[in-house]
Amino acid sequence: MTAEQAPTRTIGIIGGTGPQGRGLATRWAVAGVPVTLGSRDAARAAEVAAEVGHGVRGASNEVAAASEVVVVTVPWDAHEVTLRALAPALRGRIVVDSVNPLGFDERGPFALPVLEGSAAQQAEALLPESTVVAAFHHVSAVTLADLEVTDLDLDVLVLGDDRDAVDVVVGLAGLMPGVRGLYGGRLRNAHQVEALTANLIAINRRYKAHAGLRITDV
Ligand SMILES: NC(=O)c1ccc[n+]([C@@H]2O[C@H](COP(=O)([O-])OP(=O)(O)OC[C@H]3O[C@@H](n4cnc5c(N)ncnc54)[C@H](OP(=O)(O)O)[C@@H]3O)[C@@H](O)[C@H]2O)c1
Repeated sequence: MTAEQAPTRTIGIIGGTGPQGRGLATRWAVAGVPVTLGSRDAARAAEVAAEVGHGVRGASNEVAAASEVVVVTVPWDAHEVTLRALAPALRGRIVVDSVNPLGFDERGPFALPVLEGSAAQQAEALLPESTVVAAFHHVSAVTLADLEVTDLDLDVLVLGDDRDAVDVVVGLAGLMPGVRGLYGGRLRNAHQVEALTANLIAINRRYKAHAGLRITDV
């Protein structure tokens, strides 16, 4: 979908002051989408939004949660407590979970077990009145933020049980140059997509890269 075809929706990013939130905000703002970076500290969000530029604004996570599409980019260990607190504010929203439950030790990155199956399924359990979609697990925050990279050259797997919400997020992925959003299965398949990030980080470390995925023959 091109920027012209995509409906303009407002995007809020919970935990948007970190590298992943900044990178996603940069690309969507450049594509003309109104983006609000959320933070536990609205003043910090405003500072980071000013650094990101392109019309991005900063606010509390609660205010960001009032956007039409809300992307979650907090660390895994903050996922449950953050979503539990924001559940009322996220009612009726499309919530896009991009959190990877990973651990790191002297042997590198590894996937953590999650009681609910995946971060996305934990979000679904915590947010019964929101529509949860999982996406953007494999995009590199570094290349997102670097506007000199004019072709991000990757597919974004979009998982979810609500076809309309999946299509919205596929469209948002397609606003980034060189990115194609692809339906990647139902939310119960999110675990292996989140876990695969550990493999990609290992690849990045070995080959000094920002590796992304391409799905062939689609
Ligand atoms: N970095 C990447 O390349 C990348 C790629 C794909 C997916 N992801 C996923 O995206 C998520 C964010 O990654 P990141 O590197 O941007 O993370 P990060 O910088 O560690 O955290 C992002 C933001 O989360 C908020 N936060 C931190 N601790 C918190 C807590 N205890 N409670 C509530 N909020 C907290 C902070 O914002 P405030 O202090 O302003 O509230 C912080 O700026 C991770 O789950 C990661 O798996 C990252």
